[in-house]
Parts: sequence; structure tokens; C-alpha cells
Amino acid sequence: MSENKRKYIVTSAWPYVNAIPHLGNLIGSVLSADVFARFLRLRGEEVVFVSGSDMHGTPVAVAAKTKHLPAEELAMKNHEIIADLFQRWNISYDNYTHTHTPTHIKFVQEFYVEVQKNGYIFEKEIESLYCKEDNLFLPDRFVEGICPHCGASGARGDQCDNPECGKLLTPLELNKPKCAICGSTPEIRTTKHWYMDFPKLQEELKELIENNQIIPQNARSMCLNSIEEGIPERAITRDLEWGIPAPFEGAEDKSIYVWFEAVLGYISAVKEWAEKNENDPKRFDSFWKDNETNAVYFIGKDNIIFHLIVFPGLLMAYNANKKEEEKLVLPYNVSSTEFLMFEKDKFSKSRGVGIWINEALEIAPLDYWRFNLVYNRPEKSDTSFLWSEFENNINTLNDIIGNFIHRTLTFINNKFESKIPEKIKLDERDEQFVVKLKTISEQIEFYLGQFELRKALREIVEYAREGNIYLNDKAPWHIIKKNKKAAGHVFNLCAQFAYSLAILLGPFIPNTSKKILELLNLEKDLNELGWDSIDENKLETGKEIKKAEPLFEKLDIDDIKEKLIKIKQKKKRVKQIHMISYEDFKELDIRIGKITNVEGIENADNLYKLTLDTGDGTRTLVAGLAQHYKEEELLNKNIAFLANLEPKKLRGVLSEGMLLAAVKDNVVSILTPDKDVDPGAKIE
Ligand code: MF3
Ligand code: ZN
Repeated sequence: MSENKRKYIVTSAWPYVNAIPHLGNLIGSVLSADVFARFLRLRGEEVVFVSGSDMHGTPVAVAAKTKHLPAEELAMKNHEIIADLFQRWNISYDNYTHTHTPTHIKFVQEFYVEVQKNGYIFEKEIESLYCKEDNLFLPDRFVEGICPHCGASGARGDQCDNPECGKLLTPLELNKPKCAICGSTPEIRTTKHWYMDFPKLQEELKELIENNQIIPQNARSMCLNSIEEGIPERAITRDLEWGIPAPFEGAEDKSIYVWFEAVLGYISAVKEWAEKNENDPKRFDSFWKDNETNAVYFIGKDNIIFHLIVFPGLLMAYNANKKEEEKLVLPYNVSSTEFLMFEKDKFSKSRGVGIWINEALEIAPLDYWRFNLVYNRPEKSDTSFLWSEFENNINTLNDIIGNFIHRTLTFINNKFESKIPEKIKLDERDEQFVVKLKTISEQIEFYLGQFELRKALREIVEYAREGNIYLNDKAPWHIIKKNKKAAGHVFNLCAQFAYSLAILLGPFIPNTSKKILELLNLEKDLNELGWDSIDENKLETGKEIKKAEPLFEKLDIDDIKEKLIKIKQKKKRVKQIHMISYEDFKELDIRIGKITNVEGIENADNLYKLTLDTGDGTRTLVAGLAQHYKEEELLNKNIAFLANLEPKKLRGVLSEGMLLAAVKDNVVSILTPDKDVDPGAKIE
């Protein structure tokens, strides 16, 4: 590789801040982008790799409302958790930021002022749902109702959540719409919104896609189809407080629709990085305002249109009246993945299906996950995380790569006093082996250049297999008995081969790569050594290496699975025992009552109808005690009961409270005061 350095902006889709990403989200964009960015740096390209948390929008606003937290507080808290996790996953962002920074907010507002000036924004009155209780227009997910397509209840104003249906919706299409905050029925009112004039950009966008030969075929045809259908105008404002205030006159109470500002984060994140980390605002221009820069987007397939039509459309509208050297660069390429399933099922938080990126780190070493996810990346079709495959893949990593390196280093440790032995003349078999070493980097480069990360990694494993075959063919453990030099020669080549593996694996499993370089006693780090050093004889004869240590362990899948189950159970318990305030506790009216009568209930084997003397009168309670107490055991007992529970009819009998009892396994024990107190005594 002796071409000139090229500039790359590498990005991964911005995760919504209302949920922790799962393994599918991670390989869908974040981890793939990281592998690519690491590869480019290793090759010596100029790279800035950015992303951030998508903070605004209705899902976050709704979550905050139901948790009684300010949206900003919830978003910031989650952002920090996610940022920390990405660091622990060794994601090498130059800047992982969020969309609520002053830099981003200012940038977005200035951006849209410019777009408006250039004539791409118009206003329109539309009908929208309004909740009188909450005094607000209800944007998409703030409305809940019955899906007009499948009849499922609980459909939201943007989409039907029934997985069988999943149709995109607008709030006005829902049957029996309800406000998601208070449950009341909203009314229709007119409101004004600001629209982006995409039809005006139709031709320009068509040309962009048609002329771009390098975007993957599936993305290309998806875009061309949607252009063919005609790109509709789109509202870019929302009646939502949580977001970036729209900078248009008359739009003071609106915010920019989350998608239309998050996507600009790709730009503002580089701006922030240049100003803060590099202390050089010009670095921003050198990346974003140079049309030679390659801007590459790693996204899931559901985000293609947004990145290849909406985003470029916005950039074109912004660039419209700018001089060439002031224009922001249009996307160069996208790498879109299909979906990762979990044991052939969909990841689902509510059903506990899947592994989340925080859980993964608690149950197996990081590089095992990174390796397995890329090895199984849903590149051309959906793939599934399978426990059995995880086990196989890690054993492959161990048996093929780990063993080769370990055998090589141990032999040099033991037979050559840890010094790289001398190379002598190559025979035919050596030549064959060395050819592999000389050609592998180009092959991997080719796959990575096409975003075939999975193929690249599999090719590296195949390459390592060749190392093992060579070693077995040569059988230096036999040669050494007669000819130490000839055996040393084999290990010289094997050590170089181990070195090449460290470089090749660098983008994929950086911790492992670092460890191999350490064992080889090389001081320079990966990027200093560089991609082109793969076949450069970096290990001189006589160089001392460290004592071999195993790189991996065999996986005990059952053990790992069990750990995961434990983590999930713990989380559930923590969720159940959440704290309540003293005020909440005071809401409970718990008192003592004396049981004055006990009767069975017809057709209900386990229920008693109890009559209580409550001091100020009597009450009826229905309690599930018939399997645990005889009638006479209960009669005349003082018991604790919850007095302000909503009355409820059970088997035709109105129960006016709830008796309290301790329950474990099959033992039920009613709570009684340990001194005599009068009925009506309050529990405080
Ligand atoms: N938050 C979006 C999602 O998770 C992705 C936003 S990508 C960006 O689907 F382009 F807006 F940044
Ligand atoms: Zn309401």
C-alpha cells in the first residue's frame, strides 16, 4: 500500500438513549464501524470515528414522564451508561457524544436557518391530536389506540407494536385514540408545522444514487425504488418540549423532529472533537469540507433511506448556495447489516430473549464476543446468535489461532532459549508458506474494502489453519533431533507468521492482538507497526521473546448460560424491590381487625369469607386461607389488613380490604400483633 493517505469520516448509527443496546444493535453498526475504523488507522489513513447518543424524541420523553423524571436527567444518565459500555467494549471512537450538547444544538439551529434561507422549508397547517388534560399536542408515540390494519390494541401513533403487523401509522389513523400519558380521549385541532421540500431535491438525489457505484446493491435498489415512487415532503417539526427548539419564526413552541437533528450529529460531533480534543477548529473543515473525504456510515438496514436520501437531501439543501470549498461532503458509502436474531427468535427485553451488551461482559471475555459477533455478522442475510455456534467459534479461535501461536512460542522458549532462531534457505514447502504471508494482507484488505468483515475474519482463520498445516507438515520436533538449524528455520517462519496474525487480528480483537505483540516482546504499538509490516520480518534473528501464555480458554457454555440466567434473575429482583418514598408508604392504610366470623364460599375451595370488627364497624374480607387454616383457628384472631384497597368482588362476594400474611413456598402465616390491641389500631 503505497498510495497517498486518504481521509475518512467513519460513523455508526446513534443509539436511542432509552435502552441499553443488545448484541444485535452492537454488530449492526457500532462494532462493525469500530473494526473498519481500526483497520483504516492501522493502514495509516486519516480517520475520525464518531457517534453519540440520540437523546431526544418521544420514546425518551414518554419514558421520562412515566418515571416522573425530567427528560434531560434520564437521558444524561443513560447516555453515560452507554458511553461507558462502549468504552468497555473497546470501541475506538474519537468522539462519542450526544445530541443535547451546546455544540450540537447550535449547529442544528444554524443548519436549518440556512436551509430555510435556501428555500427548502415551507409551513403548512395540519390536523393533529390534542390532549386537553395535559395541554399538549400529542406527537406519534404519545397516542395509543387500536391499529386500523390488524385490530391490535396498544398501537402507537407511529407504528403498530404488534410484531405480526408492525405497520407504520399516523396518530389520526388510530381507532379509539387515547393520550398515552393520562389515558383521556384527545381531540382534533389544527396546528402548523414546518416541512422539508424533498420533491424539489428529487432529481439531484436520483443522480447522487445513480452515480454512486460503490454503495451496496441492496441499498442502491432500495433507494432508487423509493425515489421512483417520489420522495414526499416531510414535517421536520414536532409539538414536543424535549428536543431542539425549532429556529423558525412562529415555531417557538416546536422542536425539530428527532431524526432530522440526530443525523446532523455526524457533523457536529466532528466539530466538537476538532474544537475540544484537537484544539483545532480547522480539523473540522479538513474532514467535512473536503469532497475527497470518504464519509462512511455503518447502519442497520432499517436506516438506509434515512442515510442515503433524507440525510444527503438535507446536506444538498444546506450546500445549495455555498462555494465549493464550503460544502459539506455527501455520503461516500454505507454498510448496512441485516438483523441478528437470538436462537432464531427476536431480541426482546420484555420476554428476556437475548443478551445485552452489559450482560455479555459479565459472562465471557470481551474478545470472545467481538470475535463471535463479527464471525457471524448478518452481512447478506439475517443470522442468529446460537449458543452452540458461540461454543464452536471460540473453540476454533482457541484451537486454530491460539494453539498455533502457543506451540510456536513454547518451542522457541524451550529449545532456543526464547530467542528467534535463524532463517536458512527456503525449500519449496517454505516458499509455498511464505507466499501466503505475502498475499494475505491484500486479500483481507479487499474484503474489508467491501465491508465484508465476516468474510475477512473467516479468511484470517483459514490463514491460521495454514500455519498449523505447515507446522505439522514440517514436524520440526522430529527435525530437531538431527538438525537444530533446520528446525529453528521453521520456527523463524512460524514466529513471523504469528506476528502477521497479531496485525491481521488487530481491528477485530485488539486485546488479543496486543497480547501477541507483548509476547513477541515488541515495544511499538499496533498502529506504529502498521498494516504493511505484515510480511516485513519484524522479528530479527536473536530477538528475545517472552514466555508463552495461553491466549484463550475453552468455553464452558453451560457455565456461561447459567451466569446469564443469574444476572437476569438478579435484575428482575432489583426491579421488583424498587424504593418507594415515605409519602407512598403513608398512602397505605393498614389496621388491625378482629375476626368475628368465618365462612366458606361456594365453589371456591381455597377462599374464606371473613367478617372483621374494625373498631368503627364491620367489614367483609375474602381471603385465600382455606387450605392453610381451619375456621376455628382464625376465629377471634386479631389480624393486620390493608383497609384502603379498592373493594373487589371475588366469587360474588365483595371484599373490602386485604388480609396480610407471610408467604414462603407452601407456608402461609397471617400477621397478628404480638400484644393485645383494640381493633382499629393503625400500623405505622
Ligand atoms: N436512533 C436511531 C435508531 O436507533 C438511529 C439514529 S441514526 C442518526 O434507530 F442518523 F440519526 F444518527
Ligand atoms: Zn392526556
